[in-house]
Amino acid sequence: MVGLIESVIRKGVSVGVLALARYNRSRMPRLSGPHPFLSGLYAPIPDELTLRNLPVQGRLPPELNGRYVRIGPNPITPPQAAVHHWFVGDGMVHGLRLHGGQALWYANRWVRSTAVSQALGEAPAPGPRHFSDTVNTNVMAHGGRLWALVEAGGYPVALGDELQTLAHDPFGGSLRGSFSAHPHVDPETGQAHAICYEAVEHDTVRHVVVGADGRVQRDEPIAVRGGPSIHDCMITSRFVLVLDLPVTFSMSTLVAGYSFPYRWNPGHGARVGVLGRDAPGSSIVWCEVDPCYVFHPVNAFENDDGTITLDVVAHASMFEHSHFGPDAPATAFERWVVDPAARSVRRTVRDTQPQEFPRIDERRTGRPYRHAYTVAFLREGKHDFRPDTRLIKHDLRDGTRAVHDFGPGRHPGEFVFQPRHGEAAEDEGWLMGYVVDARAQTTDFTVLDAQDFTAPPLAVVSLPHRIPAGFHGNWVPEEAA
Ligand SMILES: [Fe+2]
Repeated sequence: MVGLIESVIRKGVSVGVLALARYNRSRMPRLSGPHPFLSGLYAPIPDELTLRNLPVQGRLPPELNGRYVRIGPNPITPPQAAVHHWFVGDGMVHGLRLHGGQALWYANRWVRSTAVSQALGEAPAPGPRHFSDTVNTNVMAHGGRLWALVEAGGYPVALGDELQTLAHDPFGGSLRGSFSAHPHVDPETGQAHAICYEAVEHDTVRHVVVGADGRVQRDEPIAVRGGPSIHDCMITSRFVLVLDLPVTFSMSTLVAGYSFPYRWNPGHGARVGVLGRDAPGSSIVWCEVDPCYVFHPVNAFENDDGTITLDVVAHASMFEHSHFGPDAPATAFERWVVDPAARSVRRTVRDTQPQEFPRIDERRTGRPYRHAYTVAFLREGKHDFRPDTRLIKHDLRDGTRAVHDFGPGRHPGEFVFQPRHGEAAEDEGWLMGYVVDARAQTTDFTVLDAQDFTAPPLAVVSLPHRIPAGFHGNWVPEEAA
């Protein structure tokens, strides 16, 4: 998520506002302590590395042939801490190449924005730019290529075999605006559905569909008010769900000089839009919900009675207190029943443990499902946003959960599910992710058996450095990109 102040100002705000924002930024007092998202688990690392033929503890499943890739912010030059927001840092991709039970390499690469290239003494990366070119939020394969993604600004960035930046690329010229970091691929059609918004246009968002061939097939405007930040969406078999929640563009925050001009705005209201996947944007049905914020839906599916079940990780508020990053632990894993006929949403808390980064077996996207995997977060402190040491496996059919605890000081990031084979049962497969040892300042790429969730890892590939806590990633099979 990037809302680079300079870019926003250049595009849509007057020169006078720009001058005022710069002035205010220059007068911002220094932080009295460390920036919470430039220190500890989040502190950036200084180097790009390529480590080959890595030792494996345990047994890497020989079926895992491909790359595990994950991205997050890693500012290449120290930002002005007093105005820096975690979401605007330069993107860095971290990946492991697995083949036949071996870990062939680990590599980390900055995604080349123009500023990153400049800092590295390189020529700018090829390709057109939208109004910002920092890309830091997700990395996934689609249409036969590997993409780094961000919302509200930069075009997708095509990445090469060892995660090097190839080009900024609006899907071969077929994308006419910003994209999203959270497209959801329909497992039947292979289409990627995303809700996209521009930091500089506050009355329209877009439903964008990218075909399995990697080209935009649909770009449908949807009217909104007030510039909501819509981080993610969800699909069902027939609908796309739009989360219009009370985090909105804040001119006063921009003028004050902060790098991320979005704030909690309960006056905006909160609603879930239900739009037919091929329907005009004007036909969207808005369903009111109690104000809260959702970065990440878990999944959704249609019910026989016309309602839609939407599972989410809901935060009581967001960007209400801190200007540095998310400022409240996730409140709960919730099940929402969206009723388009009544234009209402009924919320039920399924798990009060703070948690984030939900993932599922994505063969079940938009369909009834049973299992979800999340990272537990610490409970204390409304200004805090730190993973604790546990992963959670939810059994939503039985209403139970299992916990995998990595032990003191060992913090997992998002874990990704990969089925053992195409016909495998919903949880028959592997979970993969990075676990950071905060004391040793090392990272374990870790593979769990999803059906034996609490058991010790099947395999660990230890890396001799800390991968900064980041955002999202995916498993990329050899044949996918
Ligand atoms: Fe996200």
